[in-house]
Amino acid sequence: MKILAIETSCDDTSVAVVEDGSYILSSVVSTQLEHSQYGGVVPEIAARAHIRNILPVLDEAINEAEITWKDIDAIAVTKGPGLIGSLIVGVNTTRTLALMHKKPLIAVHHTEGHIYANWLSREENEQPVFPLVCLTVSGGHTNLIYMRDHLQYEIIGETHDDAAGEAYDKVAKLLGLGYPGGLLISLLSEKGDKHKYLFPLVDLTDAPKRDSEGYLRDAEPSLDFSYSGLKTAVLREIKQLTKDGKQLDEKQKADIAASFQYTANEILARNLERALRKFKPKTVLLSGGVASNVSLRKQIIERVGEQTNFLFPEAKCCTDNAAMIGAAAYYHALKREFVDPEELTPDPNYKLT
Ligand code: KG4
Ligand code: ZN
Repeated sequence: MKILAIETSCDDTSVAVVEDGSYILSSVVSTQLEHSQYGGVVPEIAARAHIRNILPVLDEAINEAEITWKDIDAIAVTKGPGLIGSLIVGVNTTRTLALMHKKPLIAVHHTEGHIYANWLSREENEQPVFPLVCLTVSGGHTNLIYMRDHLQYEIIGETHDDAAGEAYDKVAKLLGLGYPGGLLISLLSEKGDKHKYLFPLVDLTDAPKRDSEGYLRDAEPSLDFSYSGLKTAVLREIKQLTKDGKQLDEKQKADIAASFQYTANEILARNLERALRKFKPKTVLLSGGVASNVSLRKQIIERVGEQTNFLFPEAKCCTDNAAMIGAAAYYHALKREFVDPEELTPDPNYKLT
């Protein structure tokens, strides 16, 4: 089954053609560079850029896949969450295409797409086995998700404030590295000492409590995340180092980046390890933009052990792309979960469960 998928939830205009939820026939991503001068995504600029880009990107994806409209079995789109102006462009384009070409239409949750990036370009015998736990880390989300089977999601851990990717971006800004910051932090970290600064390994586990007989009992380890304290600790360190009007030198910047990256990743890896102990899944998945961080993958392997069936998407499928939407859509199509093009609306606050 060939699915044409469209993803426009933030600042990447992307169209892909995916066969049977795994084989990428084409995947085109047009990243909007307009935002870098503002240090973050400007919603109004993003929406206008999607309008400019969507049809050329669509044409390119169809040409690259070497197919025509009659070869396409269904069309999929990200319904949400995301920026409303950005989502509208993808959803309305998809509705029009579905009506014009009389194709079934599938609505996909953005996080669901990130999770299903793990099914892309894998032979059937290499695909994730259920039950599984997936750590999804992007600019907007930090979630631990338990899946008993396809499309069945249970959120077992979430962030109470910033997403991990957002913390990467904010620390990059504090260091004057530019946007998007995650990749820049990881590159700079290669030159730094991750043990130079001791930042807090934030843990939301409750303090021990007394049981009914008065004995102290440990609370169950928390699977939730918090990144605002870590970001503030980095800010405090930078203020301390620059208090006499001094500038950070390159070595200090690299050490801060490396120490931050190490701590941010340890928080993720520690909670994932806790989730494995509790849920005992057959597969462990990593997904979302931050999943392309090589140190994060290493830190997870150090914690969960080489013998764990730990999978992550190839780097270009970690950050936003339409192929992952096509992969998730395939499993909705198998269940015949189609939506009426007349009724599909974008939902910036779309919930996974
Ligand atoms: O999944 P994604 O493309 O978009 C959202 O759904 O948010 O993730 C983007 C996030 C950004 O915060 C970016 O800084 C982060 O992923 N990111 C990284 C790396 N590459 C992208 N964070 C850490 N290390 C990286 N190599
Ligand atoms: Zn994303």
